[in-house]
Amino acid sequence: MKAQDKLNAQQTKNGLTGFKVDLWNYEGEKGALIPLLQAAQDSYGYIPLAAIDQISEIVGIPAAEIYGVITFYSQFRLKPLGKYLIKICDGTACHVNGSERIAGIIEDELQITGNDTTPDGLFTLQKVACIGCCSLSPVIMINDETYGRLTPKKVQLLLKEYKAKDQNPQTP
Ligand code: FES
Repeated sequence: MKAQDKLNAQQTKNGLTGFKVDLWNYEGEKGALIPLLQAAQDSYGYIPLAAIDQISEIVGIPAAEIYGVITFYSQFRLKPLGKYLIKICDGTACHVNGSERIAGIIEDELQITGNDTTPDGLFTLQKVACIGCCSLSPVIMINDETYGRLTPKKVQLLLKEYKAKDQNPQTP
């Protein structure tokens, strides 16, 4: 079996169809690792383990090393995004106005730490730089909605609302 056919067969076996780049163009190109990881995340919304194996095979970097690169850069995700993506701003204004405390409360409420997704796939937390509403700091976004001047109480209520919304999809 030709190498390209072998790769295609492997992709089908792993259910890894839809990779938006032709991996085969990057055979032996170690320098293509980051763009390929970005392409994998673009294709799937995260980087599936099967994609790591295939990139490893193509560029010739061990999968364990690639895993190390992925965990080093906060832009990469090893799990799919949750239904609700919570972006917490950690820009200067938000930081000064207590974004760390707000992040801590979200982490406690959702039982996750740092940039992670809850086991039920409902929420993903992501720390980001300034999201452009500094006068409302501290600010978070949940999907496309922006919430500002947050207090610990407000953020707890907000999370409660989103959890309820998911249990009763009719709630606006
Ligand atoms: S610093 Fe948070 S919105 Fe600008």
